[in-house]
Amino acid sequence: MRCRKCQLCLSALLTLLGLKVYIEWTSESWLNKAVPRATFLSPTAPSTEPTLPVNLSARLGQTDSLSLAYWNQKQRHLRVLPSTDCQTWGTVAASEIRDFLFYPQDLQRFLLSAACRNFPLWLPTGRSSPVASCSDKDVPYLLLAVKSEPGQFAARQAVRETWGRAVAGTRLLFLLGSPLGMGGPDLRSLVTWESQHYGDLLLWDFLDVPYNRTLKDLLLLTWLSQHCPAVNFILQVQDDAFVHVPALLEHLQTLPPTWARSLYLGEVFTQAKPLRKPGGPFYVPKTFFEGDYPAYASGGGYVISGRLVPWLLQAAARVVPFPFDDVYTGLCFRALGLVPRAHPGFLTAWPADRTRDPCTIRDLLLVHPVSPQDTIRLWKHLWGPNLQC
Ligand SMILES: *[C@@H]1O[C@H](CO)[C@@H](O)[C@H](O)[C@H]1NC(C)=O
Ligand SMILES: *[C@@H]1O[C@H](CO)[C@@H](O)[C@H](O)[C@H]1NC(C)=O
Repeated sequence: MRCRKCQLCLSALLTLLGLKVYIEWTSESWLNKAVPRATFLSPTAPSTEPTLPVNLSARLGQTDSLSLAYWNQKQRHLRVLPSTDCQTWGTVAASEIRDFLFYPQDLQRFLLSAACRNFPLWLPTGRSSPVASCSDKDVPYLLLAVKSEPGQFAARQAVRETWGRAVAGTRLLFLLGSPLGMGGPDLRSLVTWESQHYGDLLLWDFLDVPYNRTLKDLLLLTWLSQHCPAVNFILQVQDDAFVHVPALLEHLQTLPPTWARSLYLGEVFTQAKPLRKPGGPFYVPKTFFEGDYPAYASGGGYVISGRLVPWLLQAAARVVPFPFDDVYTGLCFRALGLVPRAHPGFLTAWPADRTRDPCTIRDLLLVHPVSPQDTIRLWKHLWGPNLQC
C-alpha cells in the first residue's frame, strides 16, 4: 500500500522534472531562434591593454593560408586600407570574387564602396553644424550615441522624451546618413528643422542603409577624436532600444579601473558563425568569408571606453571591411587584442510580449527592440509613483 503511494509520488515527481526540463529546453531553443546570428554563451576572459601588431594575421586567425575566401585572403595581405581612390578597391573586389554577380544586391553595393569611409557632414543650413563640440567643462561621462535613420522621427522623439533626457554626465547624439535617400521621400526640410531645433543630429553625406552602419561608427569615432576626445564612455545603441541609464551609470562607476580602461560591454556572442542561407537575413557567401565570427557585442547596444577611440580608428584602417557593423567592431577589438565583456543586463533580442513589464526592466541595463509607444509606456511606469514589484 505504502509502496504504491511511493510509486505514485515518484512518478509524479518524475513527470514534474520532465516538464521542467521540457520548459527549459523549449524556452532555450526559442532564445536561440530569437538571436538570429549567434548563440549566447558565458562571459569571456578579462581583457588587457590594447596593442596593434604590425601583422594582424595571427590576431584575426588568418594564418591558415588554405582559405581562399575574399575577406580572408585580403586580410592576410592587407597593410592599410587606401586613403585615396577608394573606388578602385571596390572594382578590384568585384573582379577578384568569381561569383560576385550572384551576391545579394546590397552586398555587391557594399563591396563596391567598402573602402570609402571619408564622408563630410551633411549640414542642414549648408554652413556650420548645429552640434556643439564638448567644452572643457562639459565633457560627458557617458555619450549616448544612437544609430537612427532619417525617417525614424518617432523613434528619436521617444528616446528624447524618455531615457535620452539630459541627466548629469550624459549627452545624447543621433547618428544618421543623408536625409536624401535613394528613391525615398525627400526628408531634407524636416530633418533640417529637427536638427536646428534639437541640435543633436550628426548627419553625414552617405546613403543611410543597414550595410552602411559601420560608417556611422567610424565617422563618430573621427568626430569624437576632434570634438570630444575626453569622453569617458560611449554607448553605441540602436534607436529602438530602451536603456536604463541610471542603472548603466551606476554599473560603469563601479567597474574596476582596469576594466573601465578597455571596456567593450554588452550581450556577447561567442563562436557565432556566418549564416549561409542565400536570400536569408545576414547571408554571407562562402566565397566572401570563411571561419567563425570573433566574439562580439550585439549591435542592439554596447558600451566602449572613450580612451579606445584612437585605437579603434587605427585598427579599422587595417581590418578589411565587413558588411555587419557589430561583427566589424568585434573584429577591430580582436585586432587590438581586447575581448568583449558580457553583462546579463543587456538583452538585445527582447521578446515583444515582455515590453509591458517595467519590473523586469528595472533590473536590466538595456533591452532591444522596443517600439516608440512601449518606450513611452515603460518610462512612465518605471518612474511613476505606482510601480510595485
Ligand atoms: C602576415 O603573416 C602571415 C603569416 O602568419 C603571412 O602569410 C602574411 O603575408 C603576412 N602579412 C603581411 C601583410 O605581411
Ligand atoms: C553607402 O553609401 C555610399 C555613399 O552614399 C554609397 O555609394 C553606397 O552604395 C552605400 N552602400 C550601400 C550598401 O548601399
